[in-house]
Amino acid sequence: MSTLDELRERALAAIADAHDLDALDQVRVTFTGKRSELAGVQATMRDLDAEGRKALGQQLNAFRAAFQDAFDARQRALGEAALAARLESERLDLTLPPRRLPPGRPHLLTQVEEEMLAVFIGMGFRVAEGPEAESGAYNFDLLNIEPDHPARQEMDTIYVDGYEDVVLRTHTSPVQARVMTTQAPPIAVVVPGRTYRADAVDATHSPVFSQIEGLYVDEHVTMADLRGTLLAFARALFGSDRDIRLRPSFFPFTEPSAEVDVSFHGPGGHHGWLEILGAGMVDPNVLEMCGIDPERYSGFAFGIGIERVAMLRHGVRDIRELFEADARFLARF
Ligand code: DAH
Repeated sequence: MSTLDELRERALAAIADAHDLDALDQVRVTFTGKRSELAGVQATMRDLDAEGRKALGQQLNAFRAAFQDAFDARQRALGEAALAARLESERLDLTLPPRRLPPGRPHLLTQVEEEMLAVFIGMGFRVAEGPEAESGAYNFDLLNIEPDHPARQEMDTIYVDGYEDVVLRTHTSPVQARVMTTQAPPIAVVVPGRTYRADAVDATHSPVFSQIEGLYVDEHVTMADLRGTLLAFARALFGSDRDIRLRPSFFPFTEPSAEVDVSFHGPGGHHGWLEILGAGMVDPNVLEMCGIDPERYSGFAFGIGIERVAMLRHGVRDIRELFEADARFLARF
């Protein structure tokens, strides 16, 4: 047996023996690399005559072809086996039960806000929004709140540093002015949003709170429309056995103005009234300043504190519970 035949047998056996791709590569280096026996055989070429060189060349080519065929076949087989092993080891068992995570839910305030908005949307109101950093013009002037009004004092209003006449809105009412200066009647909007006042935190006060403003402007809007709207709202939210009452009040942007109470029946036949919002007929002066003809149009407006409604509806005693993000508290709702 010539050297090359013997070499080929050993090489093919080594290829068949290689049990992974690294080992197979090692076989390639051993049998065909620079310092391999093959290289040694090849080196003997230069000592041969032309005839001998030709014969050896053909044998070398035959060796290389046989080696390459065996190598390729083995490489393919090992590659497929490796892939199969990997697929097997990475297999996902989709029948395993998942780890249960408690589902999240909207914050109580969000739930109450959405509930309140849904009632008004059902009556035909649209949702409008405005900025929390607001100009004094919208927050005060266009709402008939004079420069010397107490609400304007530094005490209650948070001013934005470095800007002249920019405040964190003290109520959602400025969006009334924004809507009226850009839309023609009939107007029916509700405006949810955050509001800010320089108040110290206690059980019933927070410097950040939220309101829903309502505004309805059209021909022939009366106080009866206001009362009917708010009664329907109170019953939808608190129960169909509820009543409301309007107590005379004062707001610079409404005339007349009212504070609105909702009735409740407590244990032992005890019943009484809870204040839930401020409201009134839009002051003709405000309509006029916002470009709406007060001779032709009238309107009503109201402002409801969302935290207050949430606390009344769910028996929350301390407003701080609504802002502290205590998961145990929030999980109750
Ligand atoms: N803006 C008032 C406040 O924050 C609430 C309010 C009262 C809004 C009467 C109104 C209204 O639209 O008509 O205290």
